[in-house]
Amino acid sequence: MGPQSQQIQFDPRYVASLLLDEANIVSANFAAGRELLRQYSKIPENELASHVADIHHLYPSILSRLHEGAAYLDVGCCLAQDIRKLAFDGAPTTNCIGIDLEPGFFTISEALFRDEGCLSARFFQADIFQSDDTLLTDIRGSMDVVHASSFFHLFGLPKQRQVARTIAKVVRPQPGSLVLGLQIAAAGEAETIPVFSEGEPTYCHSLVTMQALWDDTVQEAGLEEQEHALSWKVGLKKKPVPANMRIGHLANPKLIMVMWIAELVLKSSTSK
Ligand SMILES: C[S@@+](CC[C@H](N)C(=O)[O-])C[C@H]1O[C@@H](n2cnc3c(N)ncnc32)[C@H](O)[C@@H]1O
Repeated sequence: MGPQSQQIQFDPRYVASLLLDEANIVSANFAAGRELLRQYSKIPENELASHVADIHHLYPSILSRLHEGAAYLDVGCCLAQDIRKLAFDGAPTTNCIGIDLEPGFFTISEALFRDEGCLSARFFQADIFQSDDTLLTDIRGSMDVVHASSFFHLFGLPKQRQVARTIAKVVRPQPGSLVLGLQIAAAGEAETIPVFSEGEPTYCHSLVTMQALWDDTVQEAGLEEQEHALSWKVGLKKKPVPANMRIGHLANPKLIMVMWIAELVLKSSTSK
């Protein structure tokens, strides 16, 4: 484990958006989430089920993969609400790992969710940029699903490339392994746009540059040297920045959000 946590300053708007994130309201029987979609997002009652299924079509398959023993890594898990959502929906969390630079979040999340000692998931302090980190070395080639939401957009392109290469190395090198996330992107062509008041400007991707981000990892992660050469197939779905997040830089109309999925496939199955 890493160093002791520093004092954390929360922006209440940030915490509120975390707790109300769509990832928490996947389940059709989660009444608060349903109300949020119905009243806040103004999604008509008769479109709720299809809307949720459309946005979260992968979620049921991730749940069933966890039941089959798949290993899940949440990079920059923060309060780990997504791992809790999986647990709430009955998934075993024995093979779930959350990592964050700031270990103070782990304690706070147990207090918030009142589940100390209940989750089998393990949480570790780790810096994704320390590629020789013991944990990242230990889990090399063993993660079936890697979730990295609201994470890549913290960084400019060079650092995003570093993150993608590190993640590509921890992914199990076989078809079907997935990396996915939700993040800020560019409405038009990819470009560097300030997203947060502090920190470096974000490289906001298009589908083309997102595919290139993952293609760039293939060599270093040795994905073509597998018995059957592997490559990434990247898909993304655009959506508007939610109204409650359009504050400061995020009010920039050039910005949108994307849900993206990078899936390992047999290289022979792609046209490249
Ligand atoms: C914006 S939050 C995203 C939280 C969560 N994934 C979500 O979707 O709600 C970004 C998280 O990444 C963590 N983080 C930032 N830099 C990191 C690094 N170098 N290595 C690991 N975690 C990092 C932060 O501490 C924070 O918890």
